[in-house]
Amino acid sequence: MIIDKDFAISKIDERLYGSFIEHLGRAVYGGIFEPGHPSADERGYRKDVLNLIRKLRVPIIRYPGGNFVSGYDWKDGVGPLELRPRRLELAWRTVEPNLFGLNEFADWSKAAGSDVMWAINLGTHGVEEARQIVEYANHPSGSYWSDLRVSHGYKDPHNIKTWCLGNEMDGPWQIGHKTAAEYGRVAQESAKVMKWVDPTIELVACGSSGKFMTTYPEWEATVLDHTYEHVEYLSLHTYYGNHENDTPTFLGRSLEMEDFIRSVAATCDYIKAKKRSSKTMYLSFDEWNVWFHSNDADKQIAPWQIAPPQLEDVYTMEDALVVGCLLIAMLKHSDRVRMACLAQLVNVIAPIMTENGGDAWAQTIFYPFMHASVFGRGTALVPLVQSPKYDTKAITDIPYLESIAVYNEEAGEATIFAVNRDLNESLPFEADLRSFGNCQVIEHLVLEHADLKATNTARNPDNVAPHARGNAQADGSKVSSVLGKASWNVIRVK
Ligand code: AHR
Repeated sequence: MIIDKDFAISKIDERLYGSFIEHLGRAVYGGIFEPGHPSADERGYRKDVLNLIRKLRVPIIRYPGGNFVSGYDWKDGVGPLELRPRRLELAWRTVEPNLFGLNEFADWSKAAGSDVMWAINLGTHGVEEARQIVEYANHPSGSYWSDLRVSHGYKDPHNIKTWCLGNEMDGPWQIGHKTAAEYGRVAQESAKVMKWVDPTIELVACGSSGKFMTTYPEWEATVLDHTYEHVEYLSLHTYYGNHENDTPTFLGRSLEMEDFIRSVAATCDYIKAKKRSSKTMYLSFDEWNVWFHSNDADKQIAPWQIAPPQLEDVYTMEDALVVGCLLIAMLKHSDRVRMACLAQLVNVIAPIMTENGGDAWAQTIFYPFMHASVFGRGTALVPLVQSPKYDTKAITDIPYLESIAVYNEEAGEATIFAVNRDLNESLPFEADLRSFGNCQVIEHLVLEHADLKATNTARNPDNVAPHARGNAQADGSKVSSVLGKASWNVIRVK
């Protein structure tokens, strides 16, 4: 690998390390909010969960959905608790008690050290709600909706800067599913009035729910035809699974993610050219993760419960490797992917799990995400990598070594993130940091486990956890190591 400060991809937008909380399963109730829990503060926010989230340094959190938002009336979740309605929630077939809403989430996000990325409902609602909620959240006072917020005890506006124009509107499973043209129009008009209320906000239009959609990428082109001059970002969503227990292919899925990013960026640039625009459309990968373990269990959950245990994937060591590869994929494209949300944050396909009334712990995928978020700030450097490759039935030319370096100028440090995809052999690794002069290895963190299916549980929370016994060594400007089979590596150099 050659690592050179002069070969910069981009300064990384810290919002690449965002996450997501949806009113789904036990993400909110029993996850971040559980009045009466031994660790809950006076507002009901679980401090054990907040402590874990702070370790992840999540700069922005998307809320309140997801599929949930397309049937959600945000007004149900503000004002006196005793007046808030219980509603049938159609996306996930639960009962939503509305004990937690916009103001609580704004407070909670502050406690978590995060900004809010708010998704508006463009399923059952439209332009009118779009302008009302921006006025409620961001206008100082002196108008109906801003004064309503003040009357709810929030004198200062929340100043939410980032807004999603709906969620997965291309999906037939979405409440109020739309064609690309229908969505494009309502997104454009909503964007217009939202920015009339607050011209400082940034907006994300819905791209495809995944590369698998038959409407992709025509959806992107049509939506951007309507919204190009009104929004700053287009969204991408993707989840990967290992249903067939084909781990070599599973580990190669990050190549598909890269292909998805490249093709969505190309579609944006096609519309840019068509419109003779000088504006570049950036990407918000605002849902990504591994999701498949809980699929069968979810089919057994009876409908119309409050906060049932939905989408509770228990992640393995190999899932952590995939998450590491996906993070590297996004860093490689950080010139276009400015924001991303690990979906989700607590209990629901999440790095953090809780027991109702009990413990909170870190899942395997917590660690690569934490390492990337903490050490992956600065400038992403072009990964000039030579690696042997392998083929599977589904994907060809998968490099055994997946790697990128991030240069943090302020700290004068470079961090190399590297996955050895080889399940059977260790991999000799050599990096030439030719522009760094004499290097010193600060630390070499490793996540590995003899059993690729190993997990962390409430009773065994540290079964899969990183150690600092990696063997990276510096000799002049060369750093070398032997990367253990199926391992995630973080080599910090100065
Ligand atoms: O993150 C879980 C769900 O996945 C979200 O609600 C939806 O947007 C996507 O399909």
